Amino acid sequence: MAATPKPQSAGRLARLVTLRQLQILEAVARLGSFTRAAEELFLAQPTVSMQLRKLADTVGEPLFEQVGVRIYATQTGRELYQASREVFDALSRFEMRVADLRGLKHGRLRLAVVTTAKFVAPHLLGQFSRAHPGIEVALVVTNRERLLERMADNLDDLYILGQPPDGANVECDPFVPNPLVVMASREHPLAGGRDIPLARLADEPFIMREPGSGTRDAVERLFASRGLRVPVRMELGSNEAVKQAIGAGLGISILSLHALVLEGTAGRIAVLDVQGFPIRRQWYLAHPVGKELSVVARAFREFVRDEGKRIAESLEREFAPPPAAGPAAGSEPAPRRSRRGRSQAAMASR
Ligand code: PGA
Repeated sequence: MAATPKPQSAGRLARLVTLRQLQILEAVARLGSFTRAAEELFLAQPTVSMQLRKLADTVGEPLFEQVGVRIYATQTGRELYQASREVFDALSRFEMRVADLRGLKHGRLRLAVVTTAKFVAPHLLGQFSRAHPGIEVALVVTNRERLLERMADNLDDLYILGQPPDGANVECDPFVPNPLVVMASREHPLAGGRDIPLARLADEPFIMREPGSGTRDAVERLFASRGLRVPVRMELGSNEAVKQAIGAGLGISILSLHALVLEGTAGRIAVLDVQGFPIRRQWYLAHPVGKELSVVARAFREFVRDEGKRIAESLEREFAPPPAAGPAAGSEPAPRRSRRGRSQAAMASR
């Protein structure tokens, strides 16, 4: 008969420290901010502070120190952060094994997507959840810079982003085109113009996404590659805010065509026909090389490959140029006008 394993002696901390406290410590140490940790965990900030005070009392040492406005983990705080990561990694490996044992009936998918991908991600998740109702989905929407931080910290199963990270060891699977186009108010003097040179845009006030945005990064790279500077008039933190500002005639911008999926291109915003546009990008489903994907994550990856083809066809139909305004053979113009103005929900139902 196999020997019964000896009971592990639980130390004092194992009896007194709660997993919730470790989760809070982990988030504060990783994000360097009580406010951001509270937001991420959907807790009030006083709860975060109180739990960390209790934890520090139990440990008997300060865990964080404040220098100016910044919070730093002390040596003890950093050690406990490491220990917490190990505990949570072990728990999520366990969760994954249990989900594997149950096939796709239960389990969890943690997906983090860049802000602009929030137009395509809910569609994918909606379809996937309908096919696998027992699977719980956690979706985090953030900008590219934060998403790359999350990836480096191995916080999610899969990621959707608009460009593979430079030099990082990440497996990236392109699944649907993500063209970037130049948008202006329909009343703008350039609306309706043909073959506008890029240099002409350098005279226009630009509305830019915030630093850390992948869209912004792509625009800056394009201008820099032509020796031009982006004439930024205003910086705004979301595609919706940028679209509002364009519609109000405050300037022009370059955004993903997906940002127009809900209203189509027949509304207040026109897509300009600028040389070199659209910038042809892709949406990528990514994860760090060597990451052990759960059965659920693998199933989602397969699903995205198939569904991506369908979405690509839909977009092609929605935003194809009308025949009369069609391009010269071989060129790749910016999409001009929605022929049916169908919503994303309508696309999803196909
Ligand atoms: P963003 O990323 O939403 O952070 O701008 C979009 C992208 O990388 O294409």
